[in-house]
Amino acid sequence: MHVRELSTTDLRPCLALAADREWPHEDRKWEFLLDVGQGYGIVDQSGDLVASTILTTSGDLAAISMVLVASKYARQGLGTRVVRHAMAQAEGTTVHLHATPTGRPLYERLGFRSLAKVDACTGALNAEPSERTKVAAQDDLAAILAFDKVVFGADRSNVLSGLFTFASRVRLVERGGELVGYAASWRPGTTMESTIIGPVVAADPADARALIADLAIDAAGPVRVDIDDKHPELGQWLTERGLTPVFRCDLMTLGGRPLPGDRHAIHAPFMQALG
Ligand SMILES: CC(C)(COP(=O)(O)OP(=O)(O)OC[C@H]1O[C@@H](n2cnc3c(N)ncnc32)[C@H](O)[C@@H]1OP(=O)(O)O)[C@@H](O)C(=O)NCCC(=O)NCCS
Repeated sequence: MHVRELSTTDLRPCLALAADREWPHEDRKWEFLLDVGQGYGIVDQSGDLVASTILTTSGDLAAISMVLVASKYARQGLGTRVVRHAMAQAEGTTVHLHATPTGRPLYERLGFRSLAKVDACTGALNAEPSERTKVAAQDDLAAILAFDKVVFGADRSNVLSGLFTFASRVRLVERGGELVGYAASWRPGTTMESTIIGPVVAADPADARALIADLAIDAAGPVRVDIDDKHPELGQWLTERGLTPVFRCDLMTLGGRPLPGDRHAIHAPFMQALG
């Protein structure tokens, strides 16, 4: 069984593998990641996809995600193999990922170290319209890319160019005619109820709260926001307004290398798969 490349034509087996591990049916998210990143997988003798990962590289940063092994092949080294394969392709970059408690020991053995704890907070957000943000349009993409590059520390136009097609809504904050923050909301699955709010990128925490509030009001239903422990005030603001932390992951980098850019301005990742 060899590691082979996966593309959007492998969406269906990827979803079957996710279902085997009781992950939700996130068809829109998988398709997006297989499009902007490079998938790798292992197929067994019966032709079933039994291991997966997606590597998304933006400049000097590479994110590893969607690491899954079919339960019938658990603890036979397949998870380690696909992650090692992705790491080899990412040679020379700073490699980052979000680890579930199940995945964390595997990554630690491969040299990853935790930089932060990240809570997925979900629920209906009880918030008032901020009157601070406005709906963004495709014309704003260049300003968003320029702003994001400084904050993220890498040019991720390969990921963000499709933002206006993928996202349900994109909002921004301007001050003195300059973009000083933006955020998006999107649905991970065509049949899923919840809306994810991310990325949330703003220098001023009040702008981040305004973007989240206005996107949650637009969503008119349950939302999820992933908040790390470097932003405790935002976590508290969300829980006071009805969101509950439902699961905790670790943001890890290979060798514990610090991430570039102005990370404090990243209040929520686009998705854990991308940072
Ligand atoms: C996390 C996950 C990908 C691990 O996959 P895996 O193929 O079981 O991982 P590996 O076999 O490489 O390593 C797991 C363990 O098996 C052990 N192992 C590997 N080969 C072995 C073998 N031939 N015999 C016995 N044990 C073996 C490893 O040493 C490791 O032990 P440890 O957990 O005590 O450190 C898998 O459990 C999974 O899909 N979980 C659900 C999804 C998930 O949480 N993914 C992580 C996202 S961040």
